[in-house]
Amino acid sequence: MKEKLNEIKEKALRDISAADDLKTLESLRVEYLGKKGELTQILRGMGQLSEEERPAAGKIANEVREAIEDAIKVKKETLEEEALLQKLATQSIDITLNQHKIPRGHHHPLYKVIAELTEVFTSMGFTVAEGPEIEWVKYNFDNLNVPLDHPARDESDTFYIENDILLRTQTSPVQVRTMLNSKPPIKIISPGKVYRRDEIDATHSPLFHQLEGLIIDKGITMADLKGTLDYIAKRLYGEKTQTIFRPHQFYFTEPSAEMDATCFLCEGKGCRVCKGTGYIEILGCGMVHPNVLRACNIDPEIYSGFAFGMGLDRMTMLKYDIGDLRLMFGNDTEFLKQF
Ligand code: DAH
Repeated sequence: MKEKLNEIKEKALRDISAADDLKTLESLRVEYLGKKGELTQILRGMGQLSEEERPAAGKIANEVREAIEDAIKVKKETLEEEALLQKLATQSIDITLNQHKIPRGHHHPLYKVIAELTEVFTSMGFTVAEGPEIEWVKYNFDNLNVPLDHPARDESDTFYIENDILLRTQTSPVQVRTMLNSKPPIKIISPGKVYRRDEIDATHSPLFHQLEGLIIDKGITMADLKGTLDYIAKRLYGEKTQTIFRPHQFYFTEPSAEMDATCFLCEGKGCRVCKGTGYIEILGCGMVHPNVLRACNIDPEIYSGFAFGMGLDRMTMLKYDIGDLRLMFGNDTEFLKQF
């Protein structure tokens, strides 16, 4: 009996140590410790032993059972750990996977145009200057040589906050600030919001956007103005673009002009976008008036320069074929999604 039990124990321990997966181990547990297992049979047969033999045999039988149980327990832990390690090594968990998708936004078409223009100008050596939207009257009008009786100064045209403070009506005051705060050479652009007391309709809004440009240095002429602005039109609308300069009047420049470019859609033939004229108006420009230079502490005998200003909203509407200015500021995501 003793030998038999030891034999079972040896065999069980060998089998258990050879088991290489949890399934095999479980069938060994059933085989050795289960109701129909050999050990159980032997334990059942104990009743037939004599009173003297029984305690010793029972003790050995229990030792064998415990030894087998312990071996299974240890082996089970080892196999489980191995299985886990293997799983970790072969599987990867993508912690970036997000089930709840957050819809991704994008730039407003107007800001795409601003970014594109900024890219063109900075590649030509311009830097971006910024100024406040709440501005001094003197920077918005006085230093820019705008006469005291000019209609733009009227309360019906301009939002005043105080007598001498207003919401800027143009980006041109950034010119003044830049000239007052730095020395030539100056080469800046300044995109931003401007405000005028306009009724809202398909082409007007009390808030709109301009981009101002200013170059001041020794020996800057009208030829520099034309060459630079013509190049910019070509960069924006393509090599074949032609420009024309029409005489105009601004108080802060002399001479002044408006620049038109051949229509980017029909290339000058005449179409819906250019209303049959072949041209689209791009910007206002001119040689900086000596009075403006003087008002900004720059000697017009030494320095000269040119400036320009363009309306960004109309430019965006032309580019993306948007028919109504109100759509640009409506914040309707269904509309904005298209661009
Ligand atoms: N400030 C002008 C406007 O609002 C645009 C403009 C024209 C700006 C000519 C300039 C310029 O700097 O030289 O209509």
